[in-house]
Amino acid sequence: MSYQNLLVTEEGPFLTVTINREKALNALNQQTMSDLAQFFGEDLPQRSDVRGVILTGAGDRAFVAGADIKEFTSLEGEGGANMAQRGQDVFFLIERSQVPVVAAIQGFALGGGCELAMACHLRIAGEKARFGQPEVNLGIIPGYGGTQRLIQYIGKTKATELMMTGDMLGAEDALRLGLVNYVVAPGEEIAKAKELLQKIATKGPRAIAKVIEAVNAYFQYDVDGFANEVSGFGDVTKTEDFKEGAQAFVEKRAANFTGK
Ligand code: COA
Repeated sequence: MSYQNLLVTEEGPFLTVTINREKALNALNQQTMSDLAQFFGEDLPQRSDVRGVILTGAGDRAFVAGADIKEFTSLEGEGGANMAQRGQDVFFLIERSQVPVVAAIQGFALGGGCELAMACHLRIAGEKARFGQPEVNLGIIPGYGGTQRLIQYIGKTKATELMMTGDMLGAEDALRLGLVNYVVAPGEEIAKAKELLQKIATKGPRAIAKVIEAVNAYFQYDVDGFANEVSGFGDVTKTEDFKEGAQAFVEKRAANFTGK
């Protein structure tokens, strides 16, 4: 695992991925998108021992302040559509990851940064976190899934307003609207993310993967979510973890899940 703009650290069954462009407020340039694609598309799927990923940004000012605007000047022709398609593809890798991905958001999560946080399964915001889709300030629209996922999380009314005005939301408003799971004191974002992942890691990993898949199915127009639930339920009832979970309940002890 080698990346130019990501730092990956390991602690037990958890990986922390830090977008490491602090001077540019961790803006997502194309190299960073390639690094994310490599991590989520190639390296993480080979790590069956990993039970969760924390995604964060370097420094305390920003999670990610958006796509790298300095690279926009070279966009022409079909370059914009290609860039958006590539970004969406990378973020789908995150959303469809088999292990839970928690965003730890300490500062600005704007544009592509808000979109990146929304592609994660859970979001922890520090009190100073600020969210927004300010693309209209540049004469463009969100391109990495923001027009769709923002509505999924906070509803059409407020999402439309935020995308039309470019206004930012503070952490408490993000919590109230359902954009984040928890708000914590500054500096506590990663600790809270770990606490959540530790709880999830006590469950059957294959069941967690099926929860992710079924939740995603709700938002895929070409997938029947109820049918996905039936097949997912059928799959997990064939696992050793299911036998262990039921047996542990009967024996009044904690289950020892192995992912098999
Ligand atoms: N792309 C490239 N560089 C960015 C960036 C982005 N999205 N966001 C911030 N930076 C860079 C700045 O250019 C600056 O670099 P410099 O010191 O080389 O000039 C550095 O990060 C610090 O940003 P700065 O604007 O000086 O900090 P600030 O505290 O005054 O403002 C923001 C912070 C986040 C409000 C402001 O940087 C901003 O509006 N960024 C763009 C957000 C955006 O529109 N995102 C969506 C893009 S589609």
